[in-house]
Amino acid sequence: MHKTSPAVIVLLLLQLLHCGHALENGLARTPPMGWMSWQRFRCITDCNKFPDECISERLFRRHADLLASEGYADVGYEYVIIDDCWLEKARDNKTNKLVADRTRFPSGLNALADHVHNRGLKFGLYQDFGTHTCAGYPGVIDHMQLDAQTFADWDVDYVKLDGCNANVTDMTEGYPQFGRLLNATGRPMVYSCSWPAYLEDAYPDYESLIKHCNLWRNWDDIDDSLESVFQIMDYFAKNQDSIQPQAGPGHWNDPDMLILGNYGLSYDQSKLQMAVWAVLAAPLIMSNDLAKVEPRVKAILQNRDIIAVNQDPLGIQGHRLLVQEYIEVWRRPITPKNDDQEYSFAVAFVSRRTDGKPYGVTFSLKELLLTNSKGYSVQDLFEPKSNLGVYEADSQFSTRVVPNGVTFYKFTAL
Ligand code: GLA
Repeated sequence: MHKTSPAVIVLLLLQLLHCGHALENGLARTPPMGWMSWQRFRCITDCNKFPDECISERLFRRHADLLASEGYADVGYEYVIIDDCWLEKARDNKTNKLVADRTRFPSGLNALADHVHNRGLKFGLYQDFGTHTCAGYPGVIDHMQLDAQTFADWDVDYVKLDGCNANVTDMTEGYPQFGRLLNATGRPMVYSCSWPAYLEDAYPDYESLIKHCNLWRNWDDIDDSLESVFQIMDYFAKNQDSIQPQAGPGHWNDPDMLILGNYGLSYDQSKLQMAVWAVLAAPLIMSNDLAKVEPRVKAILQNRDIIAVNQDPLGIQGHRLLVQEYIEVWRRPITPKNDDQEYSFAVAFVSRRTDGKPYGVTFSLKELLLTNSKGYSVQDLFEPKSNLGVYEADSQFSTRVVPNGVTFYKFTAL
């Protein structure tokens, strides 16, 4: 007798409940968290020269193990995602199926998925909507149904679909179609769409993105530098009136990977990216060598209070509220709401200053649009268990921010 799996029944029930308003595959109710290869390991394929760094099953097994053993899984990092350069250059000439590189993934993707799943983690894979991936491996365009089914057969839980080597006009139909094909397999797979990043200046079809994708890359790739982090922040701030309202449970804007733990950011700059990504309700997908992250940077990545801001159940994305004297204020409404339904807020003060001292700024709570009449109790999110006391509605708030650094607070509505 044909048995319907519990996952399919849940999916069907969810679809019935939410007749087509959003992609209700039940996934990514909070921004996905995990680890992905691209930013740190790019397309290193020479495993003889670089055995610890090449895109191979060894790299992903190692990182699944490290997520579990180094405490990352305990705080929520879940997906182990293979980015580009995992494929053979040609499909199987009999079945047309995609084939993982035989030398670098000798055990096959099912065995790798098992390894990841056995550590309580989930397994993600990169592909591309066009004829070829950005690095030149075969894309999905003429084999979408076959590839969606192959992903399901490989026990994939997360698909990043890039948009190189494709006609942008085909994406309007193509990205939704691939999402429907993933759903039709009956295997729940988070669907990450790079579609808007390929539109250049055209306005993304957010209605369609929300309906078909769990997250989407809004803009350019992150690089290993503060300059790159700032460029992305500026893009999000400049376009925040259109970007910010699109986020919510099941559908997120993606400013790209966390680069903490690599070469480009100082300790304070690492805090800065973590804080702003929490305000932006961004997917927290690290790309680094988890064996080499220094302890104090690991503590930032594992800061439970900041992760709680990022994962806030309301799922309201924050935005840049104001800029004064090169100090930017980024603010996000979060739980708990008080009895009068006033939100609490996470507020980050980001310094774009480079004059060499911690710079002091003072704002009235009104300037920060913190208008709850009973005031707020305040916590420094980088100081575990800190309690800065109660700030009344008519009070002032002062903070000192180091050059290219951040301070980050939770204002809990009383
Ligand atoms: C594009 C994407 C990156 C990465 C590379 C892989 O540039 O935006 O995130 O996936 O392709 O080639």
